[in-house]
Order: sequence, then C-alpha cells, then structure tokens
Amino acid sequence: MVTEGYETMLRYVMDIPRQLGQMLDRHHEVDILPRYRFRNILFVGMGGSAMGGDIAVSVLQRDVSCPMAVCRDYRLPGWAGPDTMLFAVSYSGNTEEALAAYGEAIRRRCRIVCISSGGQLTDSARRRGHPLFTVPDGLPPRAAIGYLTVPLLLMLGRQGVYPKVETEIEEAAQLLRELRDPWLGKSRRLASRLRGRLPFLYATSSLTAAAATRWRCQLNENSKVVCHASILPEHNHNEIVGMGSPSFLRRKTAAIFLTDRDTHERTSARVHITRSLARDLFEHVVLLEGRGRGRFARLMSLVMLGDLVSVELARLQGVDPLPVQRIDELKNRMASRR
Ligand code: PA5
Repeated sequence: MVTEGYETMLRYVMDIPRQLGQMLDRHHEVDILPRYRFRNILFVGMGGSAMGGDIAVSVLQRDVSCPMAVCRDYRLPGWAGPDTMLFAVSYSGNTEEALAAYGEAIRRRCRIVCISSGGQLTDSARRRGHPLFTVPDGLPPRAAIGYLTVPLLLMLGRQGVYPKVETEIEEAAQLLRELRDPWLGKSRRLASRLRGRLPFLYATSSLTAAAATRWRCQLNENSKVVCHASILPEHNHNEIVGMGSPSFLRRKTAAIFLTDRDTHERTSARVHITRSLARDLFEHVVLLEGRGRGRFARLMSLVMLGDLVSVELARLQGVDPLPVQRIDELKNRMASRR
C-alpha cells in the first residue's frame, strides 16, 4: 500500500510539467472572460486550492500595481467589493470555507471567477452564470497544482496584468521536464537529511515565500510531519533569537533556505550571516536556489523539488503519501455538525 501510494504520488509530481502544458493548451477558454474593471485581486481557497493564489501573488506582486491577497477563511476582508476581481478556487468544489467566502463575494458583488473540478462550486457557478474554468477531477487537490495555478495566471493575463504569461508558463513546463529526473536523486539526498528531523523552511523573498508554503504543506500532507516556515528579513527581527531552542531539538532539526536570484542584496547578506549563525543550532543547514529565467519557472522549480522531497521523505519514513485521514475525518465531523 505504502509503495503503491509512493509511486502514485511520485507520478503526480512528475506530471506537473504536463499539467502546465495541458492547461496552457486551453488558453483560448479564458478568452471568453470579459475584461473586468477592478482595483484589487483576491484569491479564495483552502489548502491545496489556495496554493495557486499564493503562486500568482508571489510571481506578480512586484509588477502588478493593484493589491493582491489570498483569503483562507469563511469571511472576506472588509475591502472586498465590486472593485474586486475574485477567484474562488476549490478542487472538490465542496470546501465549506471556500463556499462561504464565495457566498459573501456574491453578496458584495465582487467580479467572480470560479475554478473547480466539480461539486457545489461548479453547480453554483453554472446556475449563477459565473465564469467557470473546469479542471480534470480524480486527483488529491495538492496533486492538481498545475491545473489549479495555470488558469489563474491565464485569466490574469487576459485581464492585462500578466503580459508574458504564456511564454513564462511554457518556459516553466520545459524547465521542469528537464529537471525532474536529475532532481529525483537530489530530492532523495535532501529527504535523508530531513528524516526524523523537524524541518525549518526559510524563504528569502516574496517569490520563495510561496515555495516555503508549498514545501510546508507537502511535508505535512505527504510526509505526515509537522514543519515550520518563515521568511527573511522578518525572521531576523524575532525568530532569530529563538533559533536552537529548546536545546533538545538541536540535533533534531534541519534548516532549508529557499532563495532566488532576485532576493534583495541586503537580504542576501542577512541570509549569509543567518546561515553561519544557524550552523551550530541545526543538524543540517541547506541553501537551495530556484532555476530558470522567469519568476514563474524559478518558483515552480522550487515547488517541484519540495514536492519530490516530501514524497521521498514519506518513503523513507514508511508512510503512504496519498491519504490525508485527519483532513477527511475533520471534514466529516464538521459536516455532521451542520
Ligand atoms: O490537500 C488537500 O487535500 C487539502 O489541502 C485540500 O486542498 C483542502 O482541504 C481544500 O479542499 P479543496 O481543494 O477540495 O477545496
């Protein structure tokens, strides 16, 4: 069972470049979207369905002049309204927080677009005439990362906020295709450093913040481990004081810095100093940099590496990466309380 789950999840990760290409081939489907007028952009979703929003924000926030945010809650932020372009994303289409936030978006007359593989969100979008991008079903939501991310980017391209979108997605698909086999070996070595240890992920820029979130979630769900993620330079103003404590954890932790060539030069200096301070406080300290030219490719290369590491760590720890029993149980128990 464990081996079968490992092979299936590994196949899903190896399939990310194909997902990117497949969604890119459907670019004409977003042409039917009206050109909206909006002043801010909000992505609504939970867990695996929120990741596309994180990726879009990380890739675009340096270039886009309007505010962008991800909402992982039942309620929308106070500023969401008719000037908001709102993406409601739920892979299953049945996640209650996403549905509640979508309901509030309707009441507040946001410009709504839905992305889902089915469920209540799909039904409601069809009934109400909200633009809907339907993605292939039958996967664990976190394995649908390409399906859930590319439509968002294409729609943002259609709205004029991501001019190079198609070239960047193509570049990422090609790069990931080249990296996936050589990075399997790399991911095995990284996973062996994480085995039996508490991973600490440190992002060094807004771009790699989304990668750190993805690594954390994949290590949680695939490898079934708790893990911590934070970002520099903020880390240098609080967490740095607590590094290495409680001391019984020292030999049981591994720090991974996720960096990017566009990291602010002063933050790069901070990373250098922080790593040297961390050396005696963690069992392993590793620095990883995204590959590729465009921001999307650089981010997705780190995302795929983290996905591979999470699957390899599951194998090393003898757990099945596929089931997420506690999420399922929680959802069932919440449903029974309606
Ligand atoms: O990976 C998972 O299964 C979860 O993080 C889900 O994505 C999360 O519970 C939300 O469900 P959905 O993606 O179907 O909206």
